[in-house]
Amino acid sequence: MIRFPTTAELDKVRPRSVFVGDKLPNALKNLRMAKSEKKLGRVYTPKFIVDLMLDFGGYRYDTILRKNVIDNSCGDGAFLVEIVRRYCNEFLITSDDLIQLKTELQTFIHGIEIDGKECFHCVQNLNKIAEEFGVYNVAWDVLNADTLTVDAYNGNMDYVFGNPPYVRVHNLEESYEGVKKYSFAKEGMTDLFIVFFEIGFRMLNSTGLMCLITPSSWLSSIAGNNLREYIFLNRNLSGVIDLGHFQPFDAMTYTLISRFKNGQRLDRIEYYNFDEKTLDKNFQENLPFDFIKIGNGIFLSKRENLELLRKIKVSNLPSYVSVKNGFATLADKVFIGDFEFLEGTIPILKASTGMWSRCIYPYDKNGNPLPREEFEKSKEAFSHLLSMKNRLPKSRDNRNYYCPLNNKSVL
Ligand SMILES: C[S@@+](CC[C@H](N)C(=O)[O-])C[C@H]1O[C@@H](n2cnc3c(N)ncnc32)[C@H](O)[C@@H]1O
Repeated sequence: MIRFPTTAELDKVRPRSVFVGDKLPNALKNLRMAKSEKKLGRVYTPKFIVDLMLDFGGYRYDTILRKNVIDNSCGDGAFLVEIVRRYCNEFLITSDDLIQLKTELQTFIHGIEIDGKECFHCVQNLNKIAEEFGVYNVAWDVLNADTLTVDAYNGNMDYVFGNPPYVRVHNLEESYEGVKKYSFAKEGMTDLFIVFFEIGFRMLNSTGLMCLITPSSWLSSIAGNNLREYIFLNRNLSGVIDLGHFQPFDAMTYTLISRFKNGQRLDRIEYYNFDEKTLDKNFQENLPFDFIKIGNGIFLSKRENLELLRKIKVSNLPSYVSVKNGFATLADKVFIGDFEFLEGTIPILKASTGMWSRCIYPYDKNGNPLPREEFEKSKEAFSHLLSMKNRLPKSRDNRNYYCPLNNKSVL
């Protein structure tokens, strides 16, 4: 087994700007780099998701001992805290040597975080856990650095866990050039999280395992093209948990947990969805790679649905509809129905039911909101919306929606 050197040992060989234990050389610089949540894509992972992912990734029992594990966007340590807890519990089953435990925590558990403040909190949180087990003054290997520039861990990790930053390409600013150097970021409107897949793969050793929680968009987006190509070439995706409509974060995005395993070319993946009541994964099926690859994308569903989807996607029949834009009303009962009037409405195909219906649509052909006087001309549609005013949730963000009662015609 490869023993990965500690930060202290690495520092002897070559100087690095790192954050070890309670020293914070990069903190001030990186606080400036921190700027805003949007630019760093900071979303914290709740404990039940961390536990779910560590279990899904097999980070349990005594197999974890003396294995290198990293969260390379560790924030304040949501994953690392649980990793340390599990490590200490397993170690102490067979040994009471706290000095050895301290050495192993320093040697095998790693983190990287760009934001100095987060990094500092991470170390504090790790100290708290270690102290619960009677271990003090651990020189944690938590780097305060930009992961895109760190290659010291490449090829040495048994496990990579994390919730990488979600930062759209147009918010990347000065990191943009660094990001574009990665081959997974060469196509489409990239997001930083896609680069973290590539970084994670580079960090894994030949039998390593990676488990990430990310937006599920990479399954079919153009930006995910190279990532998907890599997966089909290496056949290393071993399982997914599709969180579907469940939102573990405040961020509005569909979320997926994906698990990758090096060492053998797999022929199928384990497909789970997520049970919101038990907050646990729910096994659906083993899906062969040939089933989930439809066209250029990856699709997840029961086999019978995938077969149907494949027929639709690869058939040469003329398209019944072509979707240019999808939209959400956030109040379908108000906006959508089989109205007796046509003026002020458009025909729509409701994705959730596959049924044609009509939708009140106070916009012009280019999607710009109509001035109130203009929309008032569609008398019945206008008075329908007026009568439904109280059915719109108070929390609704009316800046983005047509609200005929407001003094301003269009908000
Ligand atoms: C989605 S958060 C996850 C934090 C933590 N791992 C958790 O699960 O709660 C992503 C983290 O990545 C950090 N980050 C953003 N860009 C980074 C980069 N280039 N290198 C290292 N960390 C980065 C952010 O500051 C943030 O703490």
